[in-house]
Amino acid sequence: MKTYKQLKFIDLFAGLGGFHVGFDKAGFECVFACEIDDHLRDLYKQNHNITPHDDIRTLDIETIPEHDVICAGFPCQPFSLAGKKKGAKCPESGRLIDDVIRIANHHKPKFIILENVPNILTIAEGSFWEYLTEKFSEIGYNLEYKVISPVEVGIPQNRKRVFIVAYQKGSDVDLSTVFNFMPQEEVSLENILNRELPSKALEDKKVDLLKYWQKLLDDLKLPEIPALSLVAPEFGATYPIDFTGLALSEMKSYKGAYGVSLTNCDTWQDVLERMPSYTRKNKRVANWLHGSIQYSRSIYAQNSAYLDQWSKGLGKDFNSWQILEWRGQRNVADIYQHLVQFRASGIRILKREIAPSLISMTPTQIPVIPNENRYISEFEAARLQFLDGLKAFPETTTKTFKAMGNAVNAKIVELIASNLREKFLVS
Ligand SMILES: C[S@@+](CC[C@H](N)C(=O)[O-])C[C@H]1O[C@@H](n2cnc3c(N)ncnc32)[C@H](O)[C@@H]1O
Repeated sequence: MKTYKQLKFIDLFAGLGGFHVGFDKAGFECVFACEIDDHLRDLYKQNHNITPHDDIRTLDIETIPEHDVICAGFPCQPFSLAGKKKGAKCPESGRLIDDVIRIANHHKPKFIILENVPNILTIAEGSFWEYLTEKFSEIGYNLEYKVISPVEVGIPQNRKRVFIVAYQKGSDVDLSTVFNFMPQEEVSLENILNRELPSKALEDKKVDLLKYWQKLLDDLKLPEIPALSLVAPEFGATYPIDFTGLALSEMKSYKGAYGVSLTNCDTWQDVLERMPSYTRKNKRVANWLHGSIQYSRSIYAQNSAYLDQWSKGLGKDFNSWQILEWRGQRNVADIYQHLVQFRASGIRILKREIAPSLISMTPTQIPVIPNENRYISEFEAARLQFLDGLKAFPETTTKTFKAMGNAVNAKIVELIASNLREKFLVS
């Protein structure tokens, strides 16, 4: 056992340093970091006073100082749903975990902590997870893991990630309690908003679009909104949700998007041009949209004259602007009492108390506070990751949101690190 002051960790795939912040708060000292991105390396130096090594694959592992814990938020893109699901087959980043194993095998730290999307547990029929457990077992480690979201530790962000702790076999360590934390006070998103600091205004077109959807909700006075989508192209549509086997002559008797007649279509191409975008590829509506299609058509059946008129004024710049995905309160049909996210699948309305997961792949999905006509700010995003104590942020908003979306939640890390310290490392 060591004394409090002697605990050391290394930070691989360091990014902004979510692991660094968490372990630092739990009393550990960082003795080495590694990060391939030049800009993130500069920031790491400014924020944490360590210049990381660049590419892990070129690292001479003997030069790494002695340490108790390896932290590694290995790149998740090959494993996330948003990525291409190549998993361990990915020739480059899918195998970067091998470098972590190489370092662990040489230095034999007490613990290795990994973080990634929960998908790694099941991807490729579980074969990546099997690979991981086998490889760690070969070098003498067992794994314990738990899927945890910041919302469970008092931070208002839904962001499920798997935290894995590897520990040396035969070390009489019972790690089953490493993920047991003291209950944290529940915090609403309202508590982390800071209106004093700059934030990006919502574009006028989107402001108008939200007003227009709200007008529909006000005018229809829906008593309750189910967790379904209002799919505007279905207003007036009658086509069968699966028309793969239909002859062109039969298809002509139906109505396409917004009730447009298909009677005069001479070819399938003519038909498909008049159909909602989500039917064009497979000539059918995907299963997950069936409920929403039925719901939208039933609303249309009761309000056809109004909706025909309303549809004419709806902004149609993007297909996704024509779908309102309701994940908000069922009995509060007011967009402005919610959060909004402009997603590829539609305009998503979310409960106001908890932000959706910050994601790195696209800055267009930054959550919107509709009653303030603005996006959440960089500082607010940092608070959602428990990284608001950083002195230096990336140079642009886009880069900040990308790095925040890539980062590990430092609060969860701090809680795990404190458990490691108290339960297993400090005498
Ligand atoms: C999922 S992010 C981890 C973020 C980090 N845990 C944090 O809290 O910000 C993965 C990081 O690995 C870095 N990376 C990717 N390939 C690398 C390589 N070959 N060597 C070192 N770093 C790499 C990326 O630039 C990215 O910052």
